[in-house]
Amino acid sequence: MKIVNTIDEVRAQVKQWRAEGLSVGLVPTMGYLHEGHASLIDASHRDNDRTVVSDFVNPMQFGPAEDLESYPRDIEHDAALAEAHGCDLIFHPEPEEMYHEGFSSFVDMTVLTQELCGLSRPVHFRGVCTVVSKLFNIVKPDRAYFGKKDAQQLAVIRHMVDDLNVDIEIIGCPIIREADGLARSSRNTYLSEAERKAALVLSQSIKLGSEMVKKGEADCGKIIEAMKKHISAEPLAKIDYVKIVDLATMQQIEKLDRPALCAIAVFIGKTRLIDNFFTEDI
Ligand code: PAF
Repeated sequence: MKIVNTIDEVRAQVKQWRAEGLSVGLVPTMGYLHEGHASLIDASHRDNDRTVVSDFVNPMQFGPAEDLESYPRDIEHDAALAEAHGCDLIFHPEPEEMYHEGFSSFVDMTVLTQELCGLSRPVHFRGVCTVVSKLFNIVKPDRAYFGKKDAQQLAVIRHMVDDLNVDIEIIGCPIIREADGLARSSRNTYLSEAERKAALVLSQSIKLGSEMVKKGEADCGKIIEAMKKHISAEPLAKIDYVKIVDLATMQQIEKLDRPALCAIAVFIGKTRLIDNFFTEDI
């Protein structure tokens, strides 16, 4: 496995693979890889001849008061994990390599981004769409892999690929959880021991909501109320949102009469964590 820092090096390697008739998968990440990322790399390794992992903390998707500076970084750890799961090339650029002086073109989406995380993080999806478009143009993969934990991001990227006629298959992969249910996230490393325990209210409320749906509850208000009640009982938790949205539009719905996403964002202390369930997965 190679680690490269420049766009030219990625292009030269992918060109060589293409000349050999090999297929290429891309796993875009912001590094500090965990088992969730490992499952994406495994999926790419299974589906493609070669796998590229991008490892780049993208400044453009962080708001001014967010955790860009403190976001965890460890390229040695990432390289070991990625290689063990079949990665062939890590692209680990500096911000200046991705955003040269005078950079001024953005990919902005006017639908799907106004609800959920888009409401709390107004610049986030513009940053995600812009960097993912750039990564697609740099690597030109056959397939790209994204986790379902970032459910809105997955929907936004599918929509962008469709809108802009990008010839890349987008693969969504299941949420990977710790043994006690907490969804894997690089941000879990911010949690103190007490916060780590408190963070279980996310997965517990997801389980509670999905069990209500399984039993036939179709009133979104009742499901949300039960989930909020469970989360609010934890003193270290502060709800950003608990919402049920139409999977196709990301707009809130009142009745479960179509494929839907139940998504939550909760602050545990200063750390904002997300989790979700898709009704079609129940
Ligand atoms: O999901 C992430 O880690 C990031 O949003 C992504 C897709 C790598 C873009 O920076």
